[in-house]
Amino acid sequence: MRTTVSVIKADVGSLAGHHTVPDVIIDFAKTNLERGKKAGLIADFFVTNCGDDLELIMSHTKGEDSPKIHEFAWKTFQGAAKKAKELKLYAAGQDLLVEAFSGNVKGMGPGVAELEFEERESDPMVVFMADKTEPGAFNLPLYRVFADPFCTAGLIIDPTLHGGFKFEVMDVMEHKVVTLQCPEEMYDLLALLGTPGRYVIRKIYRKDGLQAAAVSTTRLSLIAGKYVGKDDPVAIVRAQHGLPAVGEVLEPFATPHLVAGWMRGSHRGPLMPVGVANAKCTRFDGPPRIVALGFQISNAKLIGPADLFDDPAFDRARALTNEIADYMRRHGPFEPGRLSADEMEYTTLPTVLKKLKDRFTKAE
Ligand code: F6R
Ligand code: MG
Ligand code: MG
Repeated sequence: MRTTVSVIKADVGSLAGHHTVPDVIIDFAKTNLERGKKAGLIADFFVTNCGDDLELIMSHTKGEDSPKIHEFAWKTFQGAAKKAKELKLYAAGQDLLVEAFSGNVKGMGPGVAELEFEERESDPMVVFMADKTEPGAFNLPLYRVFADPFCTAGLIIDPTLHGGFKFEVMDVMEHKVVTLQCPEEMYDLLALLGTPGRYVIRKIYRKDGLQAAAVSTTRLSLIAGKYVGKDDPVAIVRAQHGLPAVGEVLEPFATPHLVAGWMRGSHRGPLMPVGVANAKCTRFDGPPRIVALGFQISNAKLIGPADLFDDPAFDRARALTNEIADYMRRHGPFEPGRLSADEMEYTTLPTVLKKLKDRFTKAE
């Protein structure tokens, strides 16, 4: 049986600024998805939030890019946004960039990660959801999970992983994709992945074609042509038995790497791994957060979740996040605390700079 897991998310309005999604909106989405389950459209679901993003995790048998599933998610977001507007929640409807549904939510604002696969005898999966950052934030950790033997011991030890993985990388500026093999083309791959604002891992496959991971690649500002918040990403990673173990999938997050997207989508900060209860952005609208929910996929049902970062094993990563956050904030409006000029192109900074344009005179 082929099962599809679709993780579709949108910021439809939040509580106390861009901080968190209130229960009333989560409950609204749950009720709607329960209806979809009863109607046989989806097999199972889990609704949660990471910061101000409403996250719909759905399992079904309709495949990736199913217009029915996408329309269902879109309508759920529209209903939730309506409710958010009634309550005057902050930035209600923010990520719903167009009025009418046109077959696929990609390009309409929401972020999407989907994997269709033949269920193995037992199929563990980790769903990652992040706030105050961008899809390229997954480049470093997913490279480490699927290509770095200092992270994933199985790449060396386990003959079923030893062949390596294929990375499908998207150029979000040119809207093109390229597939690179690892370890053979590792240096070429890293030459791209080191520019996470432009080159983004979209899918990862085992060499035999098995789908291992998917990442959302939505860039809101590129769709809207202006700053409309950051493209807080989601990712799905399958694990174990010929794939990296769940512990290998989580290992890179013990180092809170610097990502773009903190405060006004314009600053760099460390990515803090947290349990769902702490997936709310406070200090300087952050620091950027990530949650990891573990599921077993069983006949298209979602068994779980396990709140994987809700663990003292990540306490040191959180403490380090706070130290790095202190240091980065001391840079105030200066790079590299603030993003570079080309990355600021889609923020509100160019409007401010325009005012000064005529005051510049020729330097002798
Ligand atoms: C939104 C975000 C926030 C806002 C900031 C200013 O995803 O990251 O940091 O950019 O709170 O928001 P406005 O301009 O709506 O007051
Ligand atoms: Mg928001
Ligand atoms: Mg957000």
